[in-house]
Amino acid sequence: MLLSENHVEIKDMVQKFADAEVAPLAHDIDHNGKIPEDLVRKLGENGFLGSYVPEQYGGAGLDYMSYSIIVDEISRACGSTGVLVSAHTSLCVWPILEYGTEEQKQKYLPKLASGEHIGCFCLSEPNAGSDPGTLATFATDMGDHFELSGTKNFITNGKEADIAVVLAKTSKTNNHKGITAFIVETNVDGFNVQKLEDKLGIKGSSTAQIHFDKVKVPKENMLGEFEKGFKVALSTLDGGRIGIAAQAVGIADAAFKYARMYATQRVQFGKPISALQAIQFKIADMSTKIDASRLLIQRASALKDAGKPYSKEAAQAKLFASEAAMDITTQAIQVLGGNGYTKEYPVERFFRDAKITEIYEGTSEIQRIVIAANEFKSIS
Ligand code: CAA
Repeated sequence: MLLSENHVEIKDMVQKFADAEVAPLAHDIDHNGKIPEDLVRKLGENGFLGSYVPEQYGGAGLDYMSYSIIVDEISRACGSTGVLVSAHTSLCVWPILEYGTEEQKQKYLPKLASGEHIGCFCLSEPNAGSDPGTLATFATDMGDHFELSGTKNFITNGKEADIAVVLAKTSKTNNHKGITAFIVETNVDGFNVQKLEDKLGIKGSSTAQIHFDKVKVPKENMLGEFEKGFKVALSTLDGGRIGIAAQAVGIADAAFKYARMYATQRVQFGKPISALQAIQFKIADMSTKIDASRLLIQRASALKDAGKPYSKEAAQAKLFASEAAMDITTQAIQVLGGNGYTKEYPVERFFRDAKITEIYEGTSEIQRIVIAANEFKSIS
C-alpha cells in the first residue's frame, strides 16, 4: 500500500515538527521523566491531539491513516511524547467520538482536540489486566448519579489527565456483561492519583495508579449504553493497537536511522563498518521489518477509515511492529557496540522505550489470541 499525496504531505509536515520541536527535547524528557507543558501546547496547536476529530468539534478533521502517521513521526522523535498523543487520542477521544451523545461530544471534544484537556483511559486494575472482564471497580446507581469506587492501574497520562474514560462494573453478577463506561472529569472529589510508576522506558509519560473514592458521576456521563462497556473498551483497544503499532515503528525507525548513520562513520579494520556484510545484513533486516510494520499499520488504518472490520489487522500490526521494534532496537545497540550500551548515545533509550509496545494495550500473547480467534471465526 502506498500513501496518497495528501498523506505524504501530512507525513512531511509532522516530520518537520517532530525534528524541530520534539527530537531536541527527547533526552531531557527521558532524563527528567516529564514532557514539558509547552510541548503539549504545541501538539494541540498543530492539531495532533485531535487529528481525526471532525472540524465541527474543533478537530483537524483528518482520518485514522493520518493519525497513525502522526503517532509514528512523533514517536520517532520521542517515544514518551508519542504515547501521550496515542493514549489521549485513541483511548479517550475516540470512544467519546464513537459512543458519545451529541451533548457529550460538544462538551468534551473541543478541549480534548485543542490539547487544553488531556485524556486517559481507565480499564486495567491490580487484578484485571489481560482479563478485563474481572474488574472490581464498581459504579453504584444512586438515583440521580453513579458513585464510583475502586483502583485503576497503569494509567497512561493519569497524572495530567483532565478527562478519563472509566470502565466499571454496574452489576455484581454478570461478569463482562455487567460493565459500563463513563466519562469522568478528574477534578472531582475522590479522584486521587495514588502512585506514579518508575519504569524501564517511556519515562516522560506518566503511568499512574488512580483511586476512585466514592466519585460522583452524573447520569449524563454514562458513555454508550448501560452495561455495554466491555464492547466500548475492546473496540477502543482495537483502534488503540494501531496507535501503539505506530509508536513501535516510530521508535524502531529512530534506532534504525541512528545505526545506519553510525555504521557509515565508525571505522574498524581500516574501513567504515557499513562495508562489512555482517552490518549490511542487520541494516537490510531492520529496513525490511520497518517497511513491513508500516504496511500492516497502513492496512489496518485503511480498513478502519473504510468502516470495515479491522480487529485482526490491528492486532497483527501491533504484534508485528512491537516485536520488530524490540528486535530492531536490540540490533541497533549491537551495531554501535559498547557505545550503544551507554547513555551518551540514544539507542539505549530507543531499546528501553520499545519494550512497552509488546505489553500495553494488550500483550503480544493477547494479540495472538485475537488473531487466532478471528482466523477460526472466519471458517466457522
Ligand atoms: N470489539 C467489540 N466487542 C468485542 C471485541 C471487539 N474487538 N472482542 C470481543 N468483543 C465482545 C464479544 O463479542 C463478546 O460479546 P457478547 O458477550 O455480547 O457475546 C464479549 O466482547 C466477550 O468476548 P470474549 O469472550 O471474546 O472476551 P474475553 O473476555 O475472552 O476477552 C480478549 C477477549 C481478547 C482476551 C480481551 O479480554 C482483551 O483484549 N484483553 C486484553 C486487554 C488489554 O488490552 N488491556 C490493556 C489495557 S489498556 C492499557 O494498556 C492502558 C493504557 O493506558 C495504555
